Amino acid sequence: MKIKLLAIICLLAFSCSNKYKDVANSEQDYQIIPKPVSLETAKGRFLVDSDTKIFGAPELENEGEYLAEMLSYAANVNATFEAGSSGNIELRLDDTIENDEGYSVTVAYDNIVISGKTAKGVFYGIQTLRQLMPASIESKTNQIEALTIPAGTIKDNPRYVYRGMHLDVARHFFPVSFIKKYIDLIALHKMNTFHWHLTEDQGWRIEIKKYPKLTEIGSKRNGTIIDHHPGTGNDETEYGGFYTQEEVKDIVKYAAERHVTVIPEIELPGHSGAAIAAYPYLSCFPEEPTFVTKDMGSKKGKDIQAKGTPKIVQETWGVFDDVYCAGDEETFAFLQDVLDEVITLFPANYIHIGGDECPKENWKRCPKCQDRIKKEGLHDEHELQSYFIQRIEKYLNAKGKRIIGWDEILEGGLAPNATVMSWRGTKGGIEAAKQHHNVMMTPGHSCYFDHYQVKDKEAKAKEPLAIGGNTTVADVYAYEPTPEELTEAESKYILGAQGNVWTEYMKTTDYVEYMILPRMTALSEVVWSPKQSRNWEDFHSRLQHFSDRFDALQLNYAKHSIENK
Ligand code: ACM
Ligand code: ZN
Repeated sequence: MKIKLLAIICLLAFSCSNKYKDVANSEQDYQIIPKPVSLETAKGRFLVDSDTKIFGAPELENEGEYLAEMLSYAANVNATFEAGSSGNIELRLDDTIENDEGYSVTVAYDNIVISGKTAKGVFYGIQTLRQLMPASIESKTNQIEALTIPAGTIKDNPRYVYRGMHLDVARHFFPVSFIKKYIDLIALHKMNTFHWHLTEDQGWRIEIKKYPKLTEIGSKRNGTIIDHHPGTGNDETEYGGFYTQEEVKDIVKYAAERHVTVIPEIELPGHSGAAIAAYPYLSCFPEEPTFVTKDMGSKKGKDIQAKGTPKIVQETWGVFDDVYCAGDEETFAFLQDVLDEVITLFPANYIHIGGDECPKENWKRCPKCQDRIKKEGLHDEHELQSYFIQRIEKYLNAKGKRIIGWDEILEGGLAPNATVMSWRGTKGGIEAAKQHHNVMMTPGHSCYFDHYQVKDKEAKAKEPLAIGGNTTVADVYAYEPTPEELTEAESKYILGAQGNVWTEYMKTTDYVEYMILPRMTALSEVVWSPKQSRNWEDFHSRLQHFSDRFDALQLNYAKHSIENK
């Protein structure tokens, strides 16, 4: 009797999955962004049900659990990952895959195999599988009655090793929960780096235990200008926030589980106003009041200055003369201490040290800086900036870290091992590659997501306030990170590209989402997919499907950038 019952159950289960064996799929079932290197469709669908079991190499437990959680939003499914050799979704490490981030996904009606050279490749295979499933999988409610996945084989690997998204949390601060959401978006797009811009004139956002005033004083400003720079007044509202070291560790761990590297940016020698407000001795002129655009400073800030505290956290946007003193040894002692703590929190090989927009006016007037120029045999203040960067590079190199700097670090001579982030167009990137330095491309015209995303004057007037410029989703999609000016050998130094998100005018997380989506989606294909497969019409059509995922995830994306071509 028992055997009979078992036979009936087996037959039922078999006929149930068999039902999907010969199902014909349509093109609509295979809408993947970024476009994979190769995709072969097939007949049949895999049914995710209560029998679904994920298994594979024990090293892939993190990826297995990530996939199990994704599938658990289907009705009546409680898939788990088990190291071993039995189940119907296999995660496999495969040495024959050449690219470290490469993967293959094979879906048949009765099993799925996801292989990667590394766990990272397997993770990207899972992201592809995710897009073969309906968008409703994203809504995280157990609601999909019969979750099925179309059969086929995908073999894929990225074009560039560096695929980044930057976020400025200093002009406006965003909570840990949003940083995690941002990292999830990076992972969805098979991007691999989060560039976290943590320090600025308008706020210091990371706890440094040896210098508590950095967050006690430096993380708060007394007000913020209203409207576009130079502003129409001050909102007279205290604004602040910072991440504790425990929160930073939690975020770095969360990112690592999603194969996202977090690169912290600690700006120097410019954009250092918040640190100077906390520790005025870091300035060339500790007694000189912080300059806030005339009539735009808060009453509270002015009062504090009038009562004998000249340095305050900046309340308006722009580039400011008050920068770290390059002549004083105490500046370097401070920065080395800060970097020592930063290094322990971020396992990334790289630390971004800024280097952009550092006016030389104070250095020209400062006896200590002038003395440094003389003693070191430097020609001018540009070489003093180069001295500054090279000294920090040497310190970090000795600790096993490499530096990235904005393209101004080329001026006065590039530090020997520095990587350049080209933002003022592509010129800096080209020059650095010709000097055989690694480069990430982030040129304003294509990669600045703080620009308006429409060109038409009338449409622009309806958009939320932005910094200026125009970078449409089509502009981003048309961007080619490897400049024609480079030889094949020089092109190897172009590691990839990144979207930059400066938040002067992005006060809310909703607004950040609006500015990055779908522009980061376009960039994800630029940095991942083969150059020859780039096709705007095709991408735009896949984007319609992809945006269903944004809806399910309740993201505030720029719908008009998807609807209009
Ligand atoms: C920058 O946009 N100042 C790097
Ligand atoms: Zn100085």
